[in-house]
Amino acid sequence: MSAEFAASLATLADLLRSARRVVVLTGAGMSAESGIPTFRDAQTGLWARFDPYVLASPEGFAQDPDTVWAWYEARRRQVMSAQPHAGHLALARLSALSRFDEFTVVTQNVDDLHERAGCTNVVHLHGSLFAPRCMACAAPHRLDAGAVEPERAPRIAPPVCQACGGRVRPGVVWFGESLPEHAWQLAMQAAARADVMLVVGTSSQVYPAAGLPVEVRQADGQVAVINPDPSLRVSPGELLLRATAGEAIPALLTELAG
Ligand code: APR
Repeated sequence: MSAEFAASLATLADLLRSARRVVVLTGAGMSAESGIPTFRDAQTGLWARFDPYVLASPEGFAQDPDTVWAWYEARRRQVMSAQPHAGHLALARLSALSRFDEFTVVTQNVDDLHERAGCTNVVHLHGSLFAPRCMACAAPHRLDAGAVEPERAPRIAPPVCQACGGRVRPGVVWFGESLPEHAWQLAMQAAARADVMLVVGTSSQVYPAAGLPVEVRQADGQVAVINPDPSLRVSPGELLLRATAGEAIPALLTELAG
């Protein structure tokens, strides 16, 4: 453990000892150590030739629904065969500490690893792989328990809505779409009240999620960033723990217990 990391860890632990309300903003880097590639990692395998910005868009789905549906099914399969890592588990234990009156996990991720690790207050800003819905009547669509294995070329026709016969779409927020209003309100309220915000595993390139740390600082809350990116710079006054989620969050839990 570097002296810089140890110092930031001790400072963050002190902040959390006096904090009552905590919010954690997570991005794709939070799931990286569970084997889920981050969004900006190069697409691999079957999907290497596709542009994720096209696949994750209303236009992409309208143009080629079978390819887009197969891509999300492949991602759902990947998540179903992944496990929460030590960072997810430590975050769940942190959230359960009686010292906190409020502990909200606001995630940009569409996987369910926070929930499977035991976090109970999770806000999904960008939707979920496990919440497809009908495009016509918005009825939730119940996915088969087992993930679909796209054996053949990555094309699977999206299901048909059992309620109205409309086309079912993935339950994620696509580029150009608005965030779910209720989720955004919950995230803004948590940020406005937070004493401390942990920002874990996000490149902070996508708004409005990337603006949440500003809300915390404007309300005199403290922001700590957990990210191994050697080139990352944080805003003045923010703490940086240059480490992975799987390294930093368990270390933070240990430091707090110390
Ligand atoms: N632990 C912590 N952080 C990590 C780890 C790790 N093990 N591995 C990578 N990271 C960091 C990277 O340094 C990067 O800053 O995670 C970040 C991942 O950034 P992105 O791939 O841009 O993912 P994210 O920030 O979640 O993207 C935000 O944009 O792509 C859309 O809707 C999509 O929700 C996504 C949003």
